Amino acid sequence: MISEQELNKKIQEAKGYLNERITVTPEFGIILGSGLGKLADLAENSIVIKYEDIPHFPVSTVAGHSGKLIVGKIASKTVMMMQGRFHYYEGYEMNEVTFPVRLMQVLGIKNLIVTNAAGGVNKEYKPGDLVLIEDHLNLMGVNPLRGANVSDFGPRFPDLSEAYDHKWREKAIELMPTMGLEPKRGVYAAVSGPSYETPAEIRYLRTIGADLVGMSTAPEVIVANHGGMKVLGISCVTNMAAGVLPEKLSHNEVIATTQRIEQQFVGFVKSLISILD
Ligand code: HPA
Repeated sequence: MISEQELNKKIQEAKGYLNERITVTPEFGIILGSGLGKLADLAENSIVIKYEDIPHFPVSTVAGHSGKLIVGKIASKTVMMMQGRFHYYEGYEMNEVTFPVRLMQVLGIKNLIVTNAAGGVNKEYKPGDLVLIEDHLNLMGVNPLRGANVSDFGPRFPDLSEAYDHKWREKAIELMPTMGLEPKRGVYAAVSGPSYETPAEIRYLRTIGADLVGMSTAPEVIVANHGGMKVLGISCVTNMAAGVLPEKLSHNEVIATTQRIEQQFVGFVKSLISILD
């Protein structure tokens, strides 16, 4: 496991590289999940930095995730977007999965919007729904903060009672009907993947309070909270979870739903950027 000094050194070197290229501190960090990549096209005066050019930054491997950091203006606010995230199932260590969020923190970014594709565990949902994450269940079997704590980053035992900011979520919920979206909230269960769940696992997740299931987000949100960032999380329900419908699950269905909903999703996040502060 990487030592805290080593991680800190890597983060500082990556920060140094970015500081030479970015003149203003972005107000928002945004992690673009599957199907939200086009938000980056809306950025004005954008600077595009390839992950591979940033010292120590992990490099993306999943098809459909391109691997760029985009800094620009959306709705008159400066944002830093991650186009392509790192999943634990790809084999990255947790400090790699969360490296970009740590980097955002040390760059002085105080606000984080995380998005993802998720399976619908709650039977009231339907594919294509956008759901505001109210809380999560970290069932990945690991915590990204395991190991020696870097006190410059945050406390040893960070509080997660409001991991997803309540005020921001309610603002987002109020915005939804004005954009033709049904207001929905839910608890996101984070699992390690990469296999989809069994129907029995989905029944178990429903019993313990999950509405959504996915293979990302919890690690980034834990690190963001450790670093004192405010978080808003949105899931796009790309499919009903295993066993809810007779059909089998496929990654193609996940991609097809994200593509169908992309315009709406991008429009929603753009409006959110304009109203959140
Ligand atoms: N399970 C886990 N992760 C997912 C799913 C799912 O059904 N859909 C999209 N990501």
